[in-house]
Amino acid sequence: MYKCAIILAAGEGKRMKSSIPKVLHKVCGKEMVNIVIDVVEESRVENIDVVIGREAEKVKDATFKKNVAYSFQQKQLGTGHAVMCAKDFLRGKKGSVAIFTGDAPLITSETIAKLFDFHENGRYKATIVTSIVDNPEGYGRIIRQKDGQVCKIVEHKDCNEEELKVNEINSGMYCFDIESLMSSIDRLNNNNAQGEYYLTDVIEILKSHEGKVGGFSIPFEETMGVNSRIQLSQAEKVMRSRINRKHMENGVTLIDPDNTYIGLDVQIENDTIIYPGNVLQGNTIIKRECILYPNSRIDNSVINENVTIQSSVILDSKIGCNTTVGPYAYIRPQTTIGKSARIGDFVEVKKSTIGDNTKVSHLTYIGDAEIGSGCNFGCGTVVVNYDGKVKNKTIIGDNSFIGCNTNLVSPVTVKSNTYIAAGSTITKEVPEGALAIARARQKNIEGWVEKKGLKK
Ligand code: UD1
Ligand code: CA
Repeated sequence: MYKCAIILAAGEGKRMKSSIPKVLHKVCGKEMVNIVIDVVEESRVENIDVVIGREAEKVKDATFKKNVAYSFQQKQLGTGHAVMCAKDFLRGKKGSVAIFTGDAPLITSETIAKLFDFHENGRYKATIVTSIVDNPEGYGRIIRQKDGQVCKIVEHKDCNEEELKVNEINSGMYCFDIESLMSSIDRLNNNNAQGEYYLTDVIEILKSHEGKVGGFSIPFEETMGVNSRIQLSQAEKVMRSRINRKHMENGVTLIDPDNTYIGLDVQIENDTIIYPGNVLQGNTIIKRECILYPNSRIDNSVINENVTIQSSVILDSKIGCNTTVGPYAYIRPQTTIGKSARIGDFVEVKKSTIGDNTKVSHLTYIGDAEIGSGCNFGCGTVVVNYDGKVKNKTIIGDNSFIGCNTNLVSPVTVKSNTYIAAGSTITKEVPEGALAIARARQKNIEGWVEKKGLKK
């Protein structure tokens, strides 16, 4: 049967106290609305429509990579009204539509697939996703008939005393027969405590036409919504533990999963060992047998096999296999480090390539440079890439030995198989096979200390 989905994301989320729309707040590094879109997509629905309203442009921009349609809800007059705004998306379609909200990111694609099965096998006109909770405060209550069907949903503010005691709640996720939803959605009114068009009132309309309505109960962990920063942190915790469990199941060692922060789209191969305090973000890929000692942040980078990293920051870069990085290295975007290389303590590399087996062991800055293989950088080398106006390029061939405390004033080229004496300031090309010395010659003034009366 044809399946599609609507994601409601037009609300504002006052309790977040934020200048960005609620659905763009991130859980494990990804905007909640994008998490929901991805999960819905994985469950193999054919089309997805996102209802946007508050700060619609921002939500559109944040979801531009996704294959989704948009409906626009100018004024937020309630969840029923939001679905009315998606009528053009539903028109002419036959089959099932599932409805989710952009602020409940913990639903899984397996559960969505089961929801469609439950709904279609039971021949329901509507299926409500429900959860049993300890404290139902604020949620719509599920009122079931004797045969287990749902007969209505009563919003917290509209509940009588009996209804307030019900602890099965409406998760705000549903599945509908598209034609039944289309024929009842326009009949909603806003005669209720909040003066809103409630999507939940569709149930009673369907019931009055003998339609079957099912209740599909799932653990609260999957239906939990985010309305505040506290709930955001609770969702983060649940998601983090799911992500970490998945990596451990795939053969990754996490020394302390409670203190390891891995984004939703990060890939890690087996036999990699991750110590606490690591933050892995974006589309980072960590290949097998790497060791991430404590406290690194790695964003959107590819770390090849058997790399060791400690207490470093690596952004939008690639690290070749068998290389070691850190402690306290800073590898900035568009950097490529070769194989079996070494980037040591307090080394910053920006927008540069560094060849295989090259060692940059301590206290060095490399920016806008192309460095060959087999080079050795002495302590305290500085690539002087900025002349105050523009960034210039430095090119260093293979097997060059750069003495300690060298300045390479760009643009400059150092050919292969060269030596640069310690303390040199290089401003001209160093030809292949040469030694370059660019510093004042040493002069000793004999007896100077005594002559000045400084002898102790
Ligand atoms: C809704 C349900 C309630 C359920 C709860 C679960 C109704 C009437 N009530 O209540 O039974 O227990 O969710 O969290 O549906 N939205 C729009 N446009 C609007 C209004 C809302 O897009 O005009 C979106 C919001 O961005 C949000 C979602 O719909 O993501 C839910 O809206 P919200 O106002 O939070 O509904 P609740 O009052 O929580
Ligand atoms: Ca809500």
